[in-house]
Amino acid sequence: MSSVRTFRAPGRVNLIGGQIDYHEGWVVSLAIDRDVVVRATASDDGRVTAHSSEFAGAVDVAADGRDDPPATRPQWGRAIAGVVRVLADLGREPVGAELTISSAVPVGAGLSSSAAFEVACALALTDAAGFTLEGPALAFAAQSAEHAATGVPCGIQDQMTSVCGRADHALFLDCRTLDMEHLRLPAELCVLVVHSGVPRTLEGSPYAQRRAESEAVARQLGLRVLRDATLDQVRDIPRGRHAVTEMQRVRDFTRALREGRLDALGPLMLASHASSRDDMQVSIPELDTLVECLVDAGALGARLTGAGFGGCVVAIGPAEAAGAITERTTERYRAATGREPTAWVVRGAAGASRIA
Ligand code: GLA
Repeated sequence: MSSVRTFRAPGRVNLIGGQIDYHEGWVVSLAIDRDVVVRATASDDGRVTAHSSEFAGAVDVAADGRDDPPATRPQWGRAIAGVVRVLADLGREPVGAELTISSAVPVGAGLSSSAAFEVACALALTDAAGFTLEGPALAFAAQSAEHAATGVPCGIQDQMTSVCGRADHALFLDCRTLDMEHLRLPAELCVLVVHSGVPRTLEGSPYAQRRAESEAVARQLGLRVLRDATLDQVRDIPRGRHAVTEMQRVRDFTRALREGRLDALGPLMLASHASSRDDMQVSIPELDTLVECLVDAGALGARLTGAGFGGCVVAIGPAEAAGAITERTTERYRAATGREPTAWVVRGAAGASRIA
């Protein structure tokens, strides 16, 4: 009987750089101290089976990747079948495994629970078969698994952050070259994540539609992606204007963080939220209200995180005020919307790994 080996992959929060990873833009994200954990035992029956503490039912797919991911049941097993299929295509031997999965990354919150799930499963399954996949290759495999499982045309920032995060640092990622810089988060800043109480799944959201709309802008300009557009070209085209101005905000944010100019960070996040709301139209009234409540409560900046349309807002504030900001925001948001928010203080975490 093989031994049990345990793997973890963190969720992420996107500090700035929304809806531009698929335009080969720049993003700043944080792998957070909330993990998907997979305990795995290799087996010799050629089957990958999985149980989850969050989802009902048992998953059982062929280890050679022959099972169609979207057709896999229960539904959460699509991601397992997606990972199995992608790894088989990459040359992983069809070694079976029993997986037991648990997650501290809230689902449907914009914190990349599915990217973390796929990265953790990919780590466990590669390990069981003695197949090595690391860094960007692991992130791209997890992204392909998501595409295969759900058809959601997600970019690469979630998986790269889950794989490449570093404790107490944010990750600056160039989604064209995959150049990375780990930016230390100063101790005087706290990062807050507040769930609006409005759930959403990427699959059920207009994410793919927004992506298609902004890709149409690139085509209209004769470009492959909006990374190559200038502000003059998109000044009167809201989707394009969002992409080009957001890319500039990410670079300004990165420079400010590198140089310790902390008071420049908040306004850039707020401008990012406004552009996501007005030009990209990926916000909802609850997220706008939550951003306002956070700022009124003393946050330096806040913006929706992830694809939008519900889920969480991320904010930064003075570390010593974290408790007071959370308390005031919760009160005001509840009174304004009748919804129950959930708040967490998050820290930068290390990328996915085996737990010894
Ligand atoms: C989702 C996708 C990412 C990215 C964000 C929006 O989280 O998975 O690739 O496009 O939305 O920035």
